[in-house]
Amino acid sequence: DIQPKVTIVIFGATGDLAKRKLFPSIYQLFKKGKLSSHFAVVGLARRPWTNEVLRKHVEESIQNAFSPEEDLEEFTSHFYYQPFDVTKEDTYPQLHTLLQDLEATYETGGNRLFYLAMAPNFFGLIAKKLKEYGLKETAGWTRLVIEKPFGHDLESAKQLNSEIREAFDEEQIFRIDHYLGKEMVQNIEVIRFANGIFEHLWNNRFISNIQITLSEVLGVEDRARYYDESGAVRDMLQNHILQIVALLAMEPPIKLTTDEIRSEKIKVLRALRKFKHEPIADNFVRGQYDAGTIHGKSVPAYRDEAEELADSTTETYVAGKLLIDNYRWAGVPIYVRTGKRMPKKSIKVIIQFKDLPMNLYFKSDKERHPNLLTINIQNEGLSLCLNARKAGSGKLAEPIHLHYHQSEVPGINTPEAYEKLLYDSMIGDATNFTHWDEVALSWQLVDPILEAWSKEKPDFPNYKAGSWGPKEADELLAKDGFHWWDI
Ligand code: BG6
Repeated sequence: DIQPKVTIVIFGATGDLAKRKLFPSIYQLFKKGKLSSHFAVVGLARRPWTNEVLRKHVEESIQNAFSPEEDLEEFTSHFYYQPFDVTKEDTYPQLHTLLQDLEATYETGGNRLFYLAMAPNFFGLIAKKLKEYGLKETAGWTRLVIEKPFGHDLESAKQLNSEIREAFDEEQIFRIDHYLGKEMVQNIEVIRFANGIFEHLWNNRFISNIQITLSEVLGVEDRARYYDESGAVRDMLQNHILQIVALLAMEPPIKLTTDEIRSEKIKVLRALRKFKHEPIADNFVRGQYDAGTIHGKSVPAYRDEAEELADSTTETYVAGKLLIDNYRWAGVPIYVRTGKRMPKKSIKVIIQFKDLPMNLYFKSDKERHPNLLTINIQNEGLSLCLNARKAGSGKLAEPIHLHYHQSEVPGINTPEAYEKLLYDSMIGDATNFTHWDEVALSWQLVDPILEAWSKEKPDFPNYKAGSWGPKEADELLAKDGFHWWDI
């Protein structure tokens, strides 16, 4: 493995993402020897912390994540803190001086990774100032890692992109979609293109429909402000779900390079039907959770989670029927759904294959069971549902399931998504990051949905916490003669 030398500059170092994901990931990379000792981390935020306070905080975050036995002092000694107000001019030259000092101490070759883990309103400004104050002029590389949301709609995303592009080239921009760091999301491509038994059938002649479910038990937590501006469509559909769709539907790349893979994904997103003329209500269902019970515990309605949510019309659930208008996929519905406060946390893709024209091994058509391939992204694994002879039953068949669980394979300890993506950004591999074209095309799908919804007041709440969402989501499939498979 390449051991990058780097200074990681985290904007928003006192925040939740840094604590829950970034610090533990940097630690893992360090422990595994994927990061050399030539590294430093600079934490920036408004609070008047010191190096010591940050180091203590980093230590706690790592204790929470792994409770390691060893002394963390050597590791945390690489962390530095600078109070930072993104709108104040003098903080940029100060940061520059600090970076130069650290580069001399840690011999990082001038490589700088600027990680924006904070409210998006300042992304454009920060990028601009970094360039203006010469923070991009170093002997090494400079890269910008950006968390979502990337804009609020196509217009604002374009605006943000043009601001960032004034300071950084597309190759220097790493837009994070953490789902692309998940092991089983990365596996989609391998399962498809390394197996003749699937890839030959991977089209509209043999697949009847695809179902993608991203369900969460959690509610809005303490992110009411962010979430209420966002909603399920912007929070999950625009990014995570559409990225999974692109990987499931893309053509085989001619090489496993960043450009080739990205360009295949972009083609899928271009072919994705953008419901500009059809009624949105025929294809998309929105929901907001009411009070209910999950795992025996009562939970409040979305509107009662925080004061500012009292009259909210934000959706906490969306189901949709996507269509890809190209030769391979014409006519195959891709049903997607995601929601908060569902009965369980699950991330699954189910590929339903077409039935045989005739099947003599079932008593009635009702009992016939199609072949299903399930890609379990949350509890990493795969399962394949086939039909086999029902033992001792004469000539009858029954569905059987072949299962593979990655966690049951000895010695496998899948790295966290953020660990992989941080490493990729440091070695300059942008394959599992979102290209601007993908962002723009995703907003083109989403904008008409949100626009149509904004014209009509929804009848919320319309599903109970702990249920699988509004009944219209079942009707969406029933109209086509399908149903959601159990998750
Ligand atoms: C984030 C969303 O991108 O993904 C959250 O903002 C959501 O609302 C989270 O909870 C889900 O991620 P994961 O990795 O837990 O499936």
